[in-house]
Amino acid sequence: MTVRSVVLGCGSYLPRQILTNAELATRVDTSDEWIVQRTGIRQRHIAAEGEFTSHLAINAARAALADAGLDAQAIDLIVLATSTPDNTFPATAVAVQHGLGINHGAAFDLQAVCSGFVFALATADNFLRTGAYKRALVIGAETFSRILDWNDRGTCVLFGDGAGAVVLEAQDQPGKSGDRGVLTTHLRSDGRHKSKLYVDGGPSSTQTVGHLRMEGREVFKHAVGMITDVIVDAFNATGLSAEDINWFVPHQANKRIIDASAHKLHIAPQKVVLTVDRHGNTSAASIPLALSVAVRDGRIKRGDLVLLEAMGGGFTWGSAVLRW
Ligand code: ACO
Repeated sequence: MTVRSVVLGCGSYLPRQILTNAELATRVDTSDEWIVQRTGIRQRHIAAEGEFTSHLAINAARAALADAGLDAQAIDLIVLATSTPDNTFPATAVAVQHGLGINHGAAFDLQAVCSGFVFALATADNFLRTGAYKRALVIGAETFSRILDWNDRGTCVLFGDGAGAVVLEAQDQPGKSGDRGVLTTHLRSDGRHKSKLYVDGGPSSTQTVGHLRMEGREVFKHAVGMITDVIVDAFNATGLSAEDINWFVPHQANKRIIDASAHKLHIAPQKVVLTVDRHGNTSAASIPLALSVAVRDGRIKRGDLVLLEAMGGGFTWGSAVLRW
């Protein structure tokens, strides 16, 4: 027997306001056609004034707990992936913990930009498998609209706000690839690329929040290779192949990156879960948002093998394979 982190439920939350490409084209020199052709994005959600990352996260967490049929008191670990915290400190995770009425266990933020959810899942999985905690909420929540330069057409068209969450429980499983739960995770980073995608502010450097800056072509150039490498690591570790995978749920940055990665790995297009058209790039929130969509519409079912991957600022990148 071995301990695995099994998904008990998932949920998500999107702010009510939708910003379409056509509306964006009235603010900056762009067009629906350009954005759709280069990225696949048609619209994104934008948090309302006074709506913070913690609010989005709490709503997603409540939805995940309801899906799991659990009371918040059953949770003893919260790992919140975000690059857009409510405050520099305390961690947004403790605001979420408080909002859910939990005052036992531990809650902390984790920052790996767009790879944040995969890093948070791997972190929670390791804590659960050691027996340190029993049930975890793993959340990705972002308000990227707050760090965008709305005059920079090269970046402001790409991102959106939202949150998603999964509930994990430590459970004994036979220790085979047919087990339910997280089967493997692989995390990577390489700081040589840190100035290709970054925020030009921070408490220690400028004492300002700053705005997102990106060399889009450079990110694009590295993305597919990094994503596919770390997925091959996951296949090698589990003995699984692209054919075994039921659902590929990638970080939703850009449809062209997703299509090229799936193609290179020989993952059939009908197995790819795509939400970038409706959500834009919601950074750490994109994978749990996409999981939630595919569970709600009946695609991902108990027992399905699900492959996750993400790549983001740093660069950071990672993969995970889990049986739902
Ligand atoms: N609308 C119209 N024209 C635009 C826009 C826009 N929104 N943005 C840039 N352009 C123009 C540029 O000014 C340039 O014009 P020029 O040729 O007259 O100088 C032209 O379009 C081409 O610009 P590029 O930046 O070279 O365009 P590219 O084809 O590389 O597409 C894009 C840009 C979509 C950002 C692409 O590089 C990309 O997808 N990169 C990956 C970035 C990404 O996904 N980042 C997300 C974070 S990281 C992650 O999550 C993986």
